[in-house]
Amino acid sequence: MAPGPYGLPVVGSLFHLVKENAIDELQKYKAKYGKVFSFAAGDFYVTVVTDYRLIIDNLKKEEFQGRPDFELWKDRNSGNKNRGVLLCDGPVWQEQRRFVLKGLRDFGFGKESMEGMLIHELQDLQNALRMDIGHPVDLSGVFNASVLNSLWHIVTGNRFELNDPTLKNLITLVIDNVREMLITTPALFFYRPVKYGLIGREMFNGSVKFREHVRILLQKVIDDHWNSYQEGEARDFVDAYIQQIKASSDKSSFYSEEGKQNLYSVLLDLFLAGAETTSTTLQWAMLYMSHNTHVQKKVQEEIDSIVGRSRPPSRGDKSKLVYLEAVLNEVHRMASLIPVSVYHKAIKDTEIGGYFVPNNSVVFFSIYDAHHDAGYWGDPNQFRPERFLDKSGTKLIRHEPLIPFSSGKRQCLGETLARDTLFLFFAGLLQAFTFEIDPACSNTDLKGTPSFISSPKPFKVVLKERK
Ligand code: HEM
Repeated sequence: MAPGPYGLPVVGSLFHLVKENAIDELQKYKAKYGKVFSFAAGDFYVTVVTDYRLIIDNLKKEEFQGRPDFELWKDRNSGNKNRGVLLCDGPVWQEQRRFVLKGLRDFGFGKESMEGMLIHELQDLQNALRMDIGHPVDLSGVFNASVLNSLWHIVTGNRFELNDPTLKNLITLVIDNVREMLITTPALFFYRPVKYGLIGREMFNGSVKFREHVRILLQKVIDDHWNSYQEGEARDFVDAYIQQIKASSDKSSFYSEEGKQNLYSVLLDLFLAGAETTSTTLQWAMLYMSHNTHVQKKVQEEIDSIVGRSRPPSRGDKSKLVYLEAVLNEVHRMASLIPVSVYHKAIKDTEIGGYFVPNNSVVFFSIYDAHHDAGYWGDPNQFRPERFLDKSGTKLIRHEPLIPFSSGKRQCLGETLARDTLFLFFAGLLQAFTFEIDPACSNTDLKGTPSFISSPKPFKVVLKERK
């Protein structure tokens, strides 16, 4: 087994990791025990892989495509972890992932129709932001609805109004839920006194409340579609899923009641992934821009020379906006949005870097470490987009350790949409506005929250319309 801290019986190193910023704590372990180390967390044994070569090579292997059997995840998927895509594994995951990828592509992923929707959402957002020109604005919660809408349109045929109170409430709950979810939270649920409600249950109250609210929204989407579905006519992704349920034999995960449960879990996966990830990355981007004003100015000059001011940016501009793309890569690297990726599980006794990894144990593939390896990047803590450009400054350089969407068979299913959204929104927002940090803002260390998704600590910007 990989070396690691000697933890307390039963609890292991869990409470230490919960108390401290887990990423900082994992760095200390790495310095002491090496690039592959392990610790105990409740009933779980966790191997942490921080070497980018080992991360990329092992993410490809069949034996690491599992997801841990956390009680919290079982609760979240209505009593069976193996539903939907995100938290599921084995044949059900394969079947669901294949269907979801194809369905999202059929209804717009990567297509021109999607680009039109994204531009429409961008323009609505620009208009909403114009109301706040000159005032300090907290960007938390500002991008979520606009970013979610194009996905939600493909999935359900509907979009949300930006000021829809139900959505606003849900987004607040998503944000709270995500912030509350520490890197070690799911494992903590396995600590029996927590599991049986004797201590610490309030840690999970936010996610329970969130699930109740989101269930009402998603159940209505499913019921409305079920009641209005016309045989052979799929209007959107949910209809295509219903078509699949109706056509399924009793061997598949689409069959009958189990099919309906899987549809619910898939919608929950897409809602959560769509509502929080891309919008938090955009928040990071604007935080870095307001702290690196020379970079922001250079991006704006590039936009002015390639796109101009009279039309919105388009995907066709992407290959020419080279500096902007380098900046987005640097934002992904610095932010490392999902620091240890979504947890993987070994599905047989195996090894990593020569260390034994037992069947059913948890593996953290540390995207944060791949993105901050000093041996590879040189100055990993500097925001320096030029590292992604060749000497002439006109060509993008690919860096293998940059893996914000992870790698291998579980690589992010929404990557195409996320990249298109980030590109169009980032270019469109900087085309229209300059983002300046609110002079009263005290967020200067630019470190993320110690959560499962790393969000910026609260900050405010002042927007100026570009003349
Ligand atoms: C900047 C935005 C995003 C980032 C950085 C991101 C990153 C990730 C990462 C690191 C994983 C885990 C992969 C692994 O298990 O190793 C993941 C999985 C996933 N993402 Fe994203 N994601 C983003 C946006 C989205 C969006 C917009 C969607 C909506 C379609 C989405 C849907 C998913 C799903 C369904 C999975 C689970 C895939 C599986 O387990 O097979 N993501 N994402």
